[in-house]
Amino acid sequence: MELRLITTTPAEVESECLVVIVLDDIERGKEKAEKLRSAPKPSPRDPALEKAMAELVVSGEITAKAQETVLLHRPQGLKSKRLLVVGGGKANSFTSAELRRAAGTALRYLRSRTINSCAFALPELGEGGEAAARAVVEGACVADYDPDTYRSERKDLSMKEIIIVAQAGSEVASLERAAAEAKIVGESQNFTRELVNEPSNRLTPTVLAERAKKMSESLGLKCEIMGPEKIKELKMGAFWSVAQGSDEEPRLIVIRYEPQGTPEQPASGKPVLGLVGKGITFDTGGISIKPADGMEKMKYDMAGGAAMIGAMRAIALLKPKVKVIAIISATENMPSGKAQKPGDVQIAMSGKAIEIINTDAEGRLVLADGLHYARTLGCTHLIDAATLTGACVVALGMVNAGVFANDEDIYRHFTLALERSGEKFWRLPLDPEYGEMIRSNIADIMNTGGRYGGAITAAMFLKEFVDDTPWIHLDIAGAAWMEENKSWIAKGPTGIAVRSLVEFAKTYENSN
Ligand code: BES
Ligand code: MN
Ligand code: ZN
Repeated sequence: MELRLITTTPAEVESECLVVIVLDDIERGKEKAEKLRSAPKPSPRDPALEKAMAELVVSGEITAKAQETVLLHRPQGLKSKRLLVVGGGKANSFTSAELRRAAGTALRYLRSRTINSCAFALPELGEGGEAAARAVVEGACVADYDPDTYRSERKDLSMKEIIIVAQAGSEVASLERAAAEAKIVGESQNFTRELVNEPSNRLTPTVLAERAKKMSESLGLKCEIMGPEKIKELKMGAFWSVAQGSDEEPRLIVIRYEPQGTPEQPASGKPVLGLVGKGITFDTGGISIKPADGMEKMKYDMAGGAAMIGAMRAIALLKPKVKVIAIISATENMPSGKAQKPGDVQIAMSGKAIEIINTDAEGRLVLADGLHYARTLGCTHLIDAATLTGACVVALGMVNAGVFANDEDIYRHFTLALERSGEKFWRLPLDPEYGEMIRSNIADIMNTGGRYGGAITAAMFLKEFVDDTPWIHLDIAGAAWMEENKSWIAKGPTGIAVRSLVEFAKTYENSN
């Protein structure tokens, strides 16, 4: 997808299709009697655009409802061949999150009609238009992805070019930078989605590690890959307990990003971010095997790890001034004669003894050693992402992912990141009382905590391995997979967390 920026009025743009957002500005539609009446208005407000769509507004064919689309040919008074009007919802609740979706809707609408070049009139949103440019480009990138990798008659519908139309007099350089950065982030999110989409026979832990290495080397990141011997040598008993049941070898993937000009030893006080991902390339449940129904979806149990790899790709290209290390524990979770069994006791790298109650609670085991290892590598701030619990999906559905934090300052950084990424996360608690639910009779802790509060007891388990290091845990079990096609995104892997992780890293730039 090529991006080009021009500054002019929408009417002057010559393109295959001009895309314009229309908002329901009920305030402007207020009648004398003060009754609120809907008033679809284009954003940006522009007399030529209003004129071109006037009849459609009068006839009620445009209402500005979110994701509504109306295509006009030969729009009067405009130089573009077509005009696509996309509803953005209510004007007073229109944010970059709505714009991202509207842009995605426009892009998928046009692509499916083989229109693969368009111009996008940047709507009014915040100062300077950078937020709008970012949202349009991110939304377009996400929409431009399809999961039909292995369909033999795969059609290439991808958008070839988007011309971003900014108001005359806009600051071109800063808009261009915003658009270029958004493209990096959006493409990195799609890189993650490609990994998550791969079936487990094609993306084994070994292949995941190779893909991470290839990406890293092409972008100047250091990537270290460790196999079974090294995992055992590091005494990663929790990670190994999951890996031991599979014929596929596990991989511990470590990717390092160092900002340019950093001395060998980081100055004390500078943050080192640790991004720890769950990389279960297939989760059968192990001996506590899952039911057959829907098990095919468990190829996406490496979505947290893939999010870390995608985020590192973006970080390598955006070059924030902060040190970041990604650690991905990649393995299958299989039943076999070598597999661990309920009741087994495993000693994690940290020395903690874990009683295995359910071999299907494997994500927390591989993360336990990943998190502890991150600390031994000198990470001062930790963030993990994992498709960790079905309980989180029960609690929050597919709309919000779960977020947990053991420290208010790191949580503040994460909320700043969310403001920019537009991703939806909802905070869940970590009261010490929940810890009692995972106390074991025979060992330090159990790997499950009973029927209730399953997302929280899983987080409490992880908390045992971060000690007092500031830490964020993201449970993305629901949000990592879209169950149906939406007008702005295809069914399948979503790439959730990539954008927030990149923004999160940026909030630590130059901090000490
Ligand atoms: N990978 C699953 C969690 C999951 C479930 C992700 C559904 C996406 C959709 C995880 O490894 C798991 O099996 N968790 C168990 C934990 C239980 C045994 C305590 C679960 O959530 O049922
Ligand atoms: Mn499981
Ligand atoms: Zn799992």
